[in-house]
Amino acid sequence: MTGNDIFVIARALHVLGVVVWIGGVAFVTTVLIPALRRMPDADKRMELFEKLEGRFSLQAKFVTLITGASGFYMVYAMGAWERFTKPQFWWMHAMVLVWAAFTLVLFVLEPLFLHRWFRDRAGKDPEGTFRLVQIMHVVLLSISLVAVAGAVAGVRGVYIFA
Ligand code: HEM
Repeated sequence: MTGNDIFVIARALHVLGVVVWIGGVAFVTTVLIPALRRMPDADKRMELFEKLEGRFSLQAKFVTLITGASGFYMVYAMGAWERFTKPQFWWMHAMVLVWAAFTLVLFVLEPLFLHRWFRDRAGKDPEGTFRLVQIMHVVLLSISLVAVAGAVAGVRGVYIFA
């Protein structure tokens, strides 16, 4: 296996990770949370959210690790660290920012306090809490999709916004 073969496998793993991860976020944001918000029974809504989001959170942890590892490997293999000093490579910053935000939430904030905070807040104000969760998902999904578009174009030498 040549170095180029390994690089191509890393790129394939990177794209597969993004498809499962950001695809899942898109489903949670545009289908799951809106459907949950229409459920009249707040307790059932909470139970279902925890069951489904909990299962996706496990998947998301796995694919964020794959996406991060393959991404940093590609930066290293390409010797592309200096891209982070150039504005036309904003999509490199966007990718790392999205990855860092999700990694922080999934591996640090959620286990430490976010999960308890969410339960307590949903107990007091279910509608307001699910509205807030939806807004947070819409913001994260929007930044992620801009990063995807910027990266696909940037890889092929088309620097959007630059
Ligand atoms: C630690 C985080 C990440 C690093 C270090 C990273 C790094 C990279 C690198 C070096 C490339 C190849 C660039 C080139 O060929 O010029 C790439 C491609 C790409 N990345 Fe990331 N990435 C990361 C996270 C993400 C995330 C979070 C997303 C999605 C939101 C993403 C989406 C993409 C896409 C769509 C491509 C283009 C693939 C292609 O068209 O061949 N990456 N990434």
